[in-house]
Amino acid sequence: MTWANEVLSVGELAQRIPVRHERFLLGIAGPPGAGKSTLAQRLRVELCRSGRPAAVAPMDGYHLRNEVLRARNALARKGEPDTFDAGGFVADLRLLREAPVGAPVPWPLFDRAIDEPTDGGVVVCDERVVVIEGNYLLLTPTEAPGWADVRGLLDACWYLDAPRQVLTERLMDRHTAGGRTPDQAQEKVLGSDLRNADLIAASRNRADHVLTAVGDGYRVT
Ligand SMILES: Nc1ncnc2c1ncn2[C@@H]1O[C@H](COP(=O)(O)OP(=O)(O)O)[C@@H](O)[C@H]1O
Ligand SMILES: [Mg+2]
Repeated sequence: MTWANEVLSVGELAQRIPVRHERFLLGIAGPPGAGKSTLAQRLRVELCRSGRPAAVAPMDGYHLRNEVLRARNALARKGEPDTFDAGGFVADLRLLREAPVGAPVPWPLFDRAIDEPTDGGVVVCDERVVVIEGNYLLLTPTEAPGWADVRGLLDACWYLDAPRQVLTERLMDRHTAGGRTPDQAQEKVLGSDLRNADLIAASRNRADHVLTAVGDGYRVT
């Protein structure tokens, strides 16, 4: 479907997700702080409101545990592609595709309060639409090993973009709320988050549609 350069409400976006008998997996990729988790939850609400039960399955739950990252001397780089269990994520995506609707598929969530994933934080079961949201849904093997199988397991993938200044402000807020000092937050944003954002930006043109927030809605191209 070609979508004109138009601003859609979340309800209108939800209506554009195809109705299928089989499960439909919609990816939302984009840089950290772009608003992916927010959009995914808003879509879920609108889908449920229109009688289409939906679930959100974030990539975030596949963060490696801090003790693993510490052992690999990678804790400071947490958030980069190789600090996730990409293989586990791909295997569980495949399960979401293959499991019949009605069979429970546990999915981990990331708990920011403890900075660790929690197993089976959500269970996908009867939902025919699952929104998969995360940073690294559209990478090629040259960009980072382990992620390239993701796209083939999604029925569609959108890319949510936001200006760099907006990302920077949101990420500063996130890290200071998480207990970092402003200096530590800035170091994390400049040294790690924005570098990841640049890597992710290279995958923007692989998305089916690019969205940017405008007021309460999203401009779609
Ligand atoms: N459309 C929007 N308008 C204004 N603020 C937003 C919007 N979407 C998300 N935010 C805010 O931006 C911050 C980051 O959003 P989040 O969904 O956590 O991003 P991501 O999951 O991409 O890292 C949150 O504080 C959220 O409330
Ligand atoms: Mg998020």
